[in-house]
Amino acid sequence: MTLIELQQQVDTIKNQLDQDLAVSRPSDLSSKYLGKKGLFNQLAKEIAMVEADQRKDAGQLLNQLKQELEQKLSATEDSQQQTWVDLTMPGEQPAVGHLHPVTQAIEEITHIFERIGFTKVSYPEVDWDWYAFESLNMPPSHPARDEWETFFINQKDTTQSVEYDSNNPRKRHPSLVGGKLVLTPHTSNGQVREMERLGKPPIRMINIARCYRRQQDATHTPMFHQFEGLVIDKGITIQHLKGTLDYFAQEFYGPGTKSRIRPFHFQFTEPSFEVDFSCHICGGTGYLANEQKCRFCKSGWHEVGGAGMVHPNVLKAGNIDPEEYTGFAFGWGVERTYTLKEGLKIDDIRLLYSGDLRFLEQF
Ligand code: PHE
Repeated sequence: MTLIELQQQVDTIKNQLDQDLAVSRPSDLSSKYLGKKGLFNQLAKEIAMVEADQRKDAGQLLNQLKQELEQKLSATEDSQQQTWVDLTMPGEQPAVGHLHPVTQAIEEITHIFERIGFTKVSYPEVDWDWYAFESLNMPPSHPARDEWETFFINQKDTTQSVEYDSNNPRKRHPSLVGGKLVLTPHTSNGQVREMERLGKPPIRMINIARCYRRQQDATHTPMFHQFEGLVIDKGITIQHLKGTLDYFAQEFYGPGTKSRIRPFHFQFTEPSFEVDFSCHICGGTGYLANEQKCRFCKSGWHEVGGAGMVHPNVLKAGNIDPEEYTGFAFGWGVERTYTLKEGLKIDDIRLLYSGDLRFLEQF
C-alpha cells in the first residue's frame, strides 16, 4: 500500500463520519469508528503493508486521523446534546390567557339578544347631562337624579337658560343650548341617542356599557357595566316586555327560570317595574330539598334590575310621537347578573377588578 492510497482511505473515513453525524448520535457512532473492530483499527492494521521507509509518515497520518475522530465524536456530542430534539415528545403547553369574566358575560348577553333581532350599539361614556337625565324626563334639579350618584366633568356648564318644556324637551337639546357633561351613571343615555340615530321606529337596541357612580363597597364599584334594552314600535305592550325577560332568563340561567315584575318608580318609564328572576338553586321555592331555607336567595327570587314602558316625554325628547308609538326598556348590571348565574357566591364584587390572577383564573 502506498502513502497516497492510505491518504485516500483516511479521507473516505472522514467523509463517512461527517455523513453519519448528520443523522446519528455521536455516542452511537463511536464503536463504529473507534471500537476494537472499528474502521480506525481496521485501517491501522494495514500499516504493515506500507513500505518500510514510508511507515513513519503513515503512522503520523493514522495518528492525525485518530485525533480527528476522537475530537469530532466528542465535540459534536456536546453541541448536539444542547440542540437535540425528540419529535415524539409531547410539547410544552404555553400559558394561554382568557377573556375577563365580565367580557365573557357581555359577549354571552349580546348573543342572546342578537338572536331575537336586537342590535348592539354603543354610545359615549362621557355624555351631555341632557341624554343622561333631562331627555329621560328628569328636568334640571329634579330630585330623582339623586339616585344616580353622578360624576360631573369639571368643565364649564354652558347651558343657556331656556325654560324646560315637557311637551317639547328638545328645546333644550345640547346642540341648541349647550350643557353640562357627566360620566354616564347608567346606560339609559343610549335611549334618546338611538331614537335620534334611527330617526324612526322600529327600534330594538341592546346597549352594554360602562357606568360610573360615586360608590364603593363590597357590592358596588365606582365603574361597573349595565345592559339596556329598548324596543319601540307600533303596539308594543307590557306582554312583549315580559316575554323578552322570560326569554333572557331561560337563555342565560337555564330552562325553567322565570321572571317576575313588581311595581316600582322610574322617571323615564311609566308604568315602571323591578325585575326578579327565580332562583336556580332552589327552583324558585325558597327552600332546598332538605326543607332548609335557600341561603342563596332567601325568598326564591333574585332582584336584578329595572324596566318599564317608555315614558311619553322620553319619546318626545327622541322626536317620536307617543300617540303613534309605544315601547319598553329594561336595564341592569352585568356584574350582578353574572355572579348570580354561576352561584359563585362572590362576597366582594371588587375582586372582579382586582386583577388578581388567582381569582380570575377560576373562570
Ligand atoms: N337606568 C336604570 C338604572 O340605572 C335601569 C332602567 C333601565 C330602568 C330602563 C327602567 C328602564 O337603574
